[in-house]
Amino acid sequence: MSSTPLQAPHQGVTAPIGVFDSGIGGLSILKALRQRMPQEDFVYISDRGHAPYGERSDDFVRERSRVLTEALVAQGAKAVVVACNTATAAAIHELRQHWPQLPLIGVEPALKPAALQTRTGHVAVVATRGTLNSPKFQHLLGQQDPALDIRCQPCDGLADAIEHRDDSRIAHYCRQYLAQTGPWAEGPSAPDTLVLGCTHYPLVLQHWLSELPPHVTVLDTGAPVAEQTYRRLLQSGQLRQPSRFETPAPSGRVSWFTTSEVEHLERAVHHWLPEASGPCQPLPKR
Ligand code: DGL
Repeated sequence: MSSTPLQAPHQGVTAPIGVFDSGIGGLSILKALRQRMPQEDFVYISDRGHAPYGERSDDFVRERSRVLTEALVAQGAKAVVVACNTATAAAIHELRQHWPQLPLIGVEPALKPAALQTRTGHVAVVATRGTLNSPKFQHLLGQQDPALDIRCQPCDGLADAIEHRDDSRIAHYCRQYLAQTGPWAEGPSAPDTLVLGCTHYPLVLQHWLSELPPHVTVLDTGAPVAEQTYRRLLQSGQLRQPSRFETPAPSGRVSWFTTSEVEHLERAVHHWLPEASGPCQPLPKR
């Protein structure tokens, strides 16, 4: 990123929160954000025209992250949530340097919560190849107790299968990747905690659960990221809180943009987040 740093203007409380992902995975984060801050407006960008990120180079993902953050800032976003583990790992550091005034919230696999809650000391992490190979994730891994057994499984093809809502491919990948990190039958040397380290994966939680014994805990990052975003906005005085004159409290809207076919995003939103559905638009080229 060589261009001059852009300063995001300090946006007012009624400005929207920007959210982006390589595709529809960010809907799992947006759902949690809307639950935590129902009065906020959001702008969501699906970059499906350049997905999947997980099997691309870091430079490519960094450049896309810069373009999308710029687009969200141009839409007046008061904060940007990078609702993608792969983009967070590759780009959050540079984005923060480029937009030092803008609250930028990223997502990362829930290793710390997993370490706290495992009883057997065996944990599995499923994520994209890009996330698992990133220096950021390797650093996070290095901070964990060395006595912990953390099994990292790249899941090539899975985010794409979820984009296409291809149930037989999704079932096949979930089964195959869990088999590679198991066996999962209850016992002292088996993992008892599964970390979903890609924002697409919680969308198919039922597929994971149907392959796992009931004692296994499955962790994702939607709620902690929503909490973190809430706190950042509260600290900067940009949280939209209903005044006592607004009854009922206003309920936020989502503006939808995509770099791929609008019908695909509209169908996906209707399926995964029907309460927020609305017309989608192509992302304007700048
Ligand atoms: N949803 C994204 C993540 O959390 C990546 C999926 C992809 O494009 O490979 O990593």
